[in-house]
Amino acid sequence: MHRRIIAPGALAAASLLLAIPASAASGTPGAPGIGDPYYPAYGNGGYDVSHYDLRLRYQPATDELEGTATLLARTTQDLSRFDLDFLLDVAEVRVNGVPASFATSGQHELEITPRTPLPANTPVTVVVRYSGVPSTKSAYGFSTWHRTPDGAVAADEPESAWWWFPSNDHPLDKATYDVSVAVPDGTQALSNGTLQSTSSKLGWTRYNWRENKPQATYLTTLAVGRFDITTGTSEGGVPVVNAYSRDLGDNDGAARASVERTGELVDWLSGWFGPYPFGSAGGYVPNTTTGYALETQTRVYYSPRQFANGSNTSVVVHELAHQWYGDDVSLKGWKDIWINEGFARYAQWLWSEHEGEGTTQELADYVYASHPADDPFWTVPPGDPGPDDQFDTAVYDRGALAVQALRNTVGDDAFFAVLKGWPRKYAYGNASVADFRAYAEEVSGRSLGALFDTWLFQPVKPAAPAARGASVAKASQTPARPRSWQRIEATNDVHTG
Ligand code: ARG
Ligand code: ZN
Repeated sequence: MHRRIIAPGALAAASLLLAIPASAASGTPGAPGIGDPYYPAYGNGGYDVSHYDLRLRYQPATDELEGTATLLARTTQDLSRFDLDFLLDVAEVRVNGVPASFATSGQHELEITPRTPLPANTPVTVVVRYSGVPSTKSAYGFSTWHRTPDGAVAADEPESAWWWFPSNDHPLDKATYDVSVAVPDGTQALSNGTLQSTSSKLGWTRYNWRENKPQATYLTTLAVGRFDITTGTSEGGVPVVNAYSRDLGDNDGAARASVERTGELVDWLSGWFGPYPFGSAGGYVPNTTTGYALETQTRVYYSPRQFANGSNTSVVVHELAHQWYGDDVSLKGWKDIWINEGFARYAQWLWSEHEGEGTTQELADYVYASHPADDPFWTVPPGDPGPDDQFDTAVYDRGALAVQALRNTVGDDAFFAVLKGWPRKYAYGNASVADFRAYAEEVSGRSLGALFDTWLFQPVKPAAPAARGASVAKASQTPARPRSWQRIEATNDVHTG
C-alpha cells in the first residue's frame, strides 16, 4: 500500500543543499501523530488547521464519494513533509497552489511532501482532490462509515473523519467548517451549523452548511438520506434544525416527541451551563442501527434505537449537555473523557430531578450501592480509563458520582459556579481533567487533590462517603432504583449493541 512518489530532481536538489544546516534547508517531517498516548497515530504534528472547506458529491446508490478538501493551516515547525489522516483515494494534492507528492503509510496516514519545505509559523493552504467508496475502506480492521438504505452517516467517536475528509484528526486541532454536499434530487445532505443555501442542477441538489465556531473533527458530521427537516427557534432565541429519516417506521413518533424538544432543553441547560455556545442547535435521526448517540456539534446524531422503547428526553439532555462539555470545551487528550461523559451524565441526573424521577443524590446513592466493592465496575478509573474502557459504564456512572462528590464537598454555590464558569473559561478551546481540578480549586478555595484521586483515579470503590452527602445516615440501606434509571442507562446502549 505504501507508494512514494518522488518529485523529479528532488534527490539532486537535496544533494546540492548539503552544505546548509538540514533544519534550515529541508525542514523536518511532521510527526505522524499529535501525541495522544491512547491513540498514538491520531492527528499529526507540525501544523494547525483553522478551516476546512469540503466540497463533495455523494451517490447513495453506489456509496461513491468524491470531492475537494481545502484546508487553511499554519505550520508550527519547519516542515519537509506532513501527514493528514485519510482513507479514500487521492488524485491530487496541492500545497500553496503547487502540486505536491503524496503517499500512504500506516493505517490512515496520507504523507504529503511539498515541492519546497515549509518554514515554521507561516500560513499554508492544502488542497486534496479525492474519491472513493467509503464502505470499502477500513483501518485497524474497522469502519465507522454507516450506510443506510437511503444514504450514509459519518458520526462516531473517537474517529469518523477518515472515511470522508482528510484531516488532522484529533480534538486538539479544532477548526471552522464549510461543508457543501451535492446529492441526487429528493435526497438531503446534513452537516453541522447553519444551512447557508441550496441549489439544484441537472438532477443534483447541493446543500451548503457552515459551522463558524471551532469544531473537533469527530464532531463534524455528514448525513445523506431522505429526511423530513423541521426548523424553529427556542424561546431563548437559539435557531433549531432537526431532521428525521422518512423511514423510521414505528420509532418515528417517539423520535420526534424527543428531538422536537431540543429548543426547550437547550434553554433549560443554559440555566445550568450558561449561554448556548453555538449559533444553531438540533439533531437528526437517520435509519441507522448503532446503539449510541453522538454529540456532533450543533447537530446531534441519534440512532432510532434510542427511541425504540418510547420517547427519551434523557438522551437528548445528554447529547445537548455535551455541546458545552465536550464541544465548546473539548478534551486535550482522550484520557480526559470524564469531562465529557461525567458531566453529560450528570446533566441527565439534573433532568431526572427536574422531572421528579429521582434526585441527583438518589441517583448517586443508587450507583454507589448497586456496585459492591468487588464489582469490576470500580476497576475502571474515569479520570484515566484507558482506550479500551473509554466508553465504559464507569466513565459515565462513576463519572457522575464523582461530580456529585465534588458538589457535596464544595457546596452548591461553588459547585454551580464551576458548572457555569467552566464553559466560559475554556470557551471554544481544550482542557484536561487537571485543568478542571485546578479551576474547581480556584473557585471553591479548597484543595481537591484527595477528592479527585479517590473518585476519579483509584481503581477501587471509594470508602469515603463524600458522594453520599446528606444521605450518609442511610448508608446501610439499599436505595430504591430511581424512576429515571432505565432511560438514563439506555443512553449508552453502546455497550450492549
Ligand atoms: N459520546 C457518545 C455519547 O455518550 C458516546 C459515543 C460512543 N461511540 C462509540 N462508537 N463507542 O453520547
Ligand atoms: Zn456522552
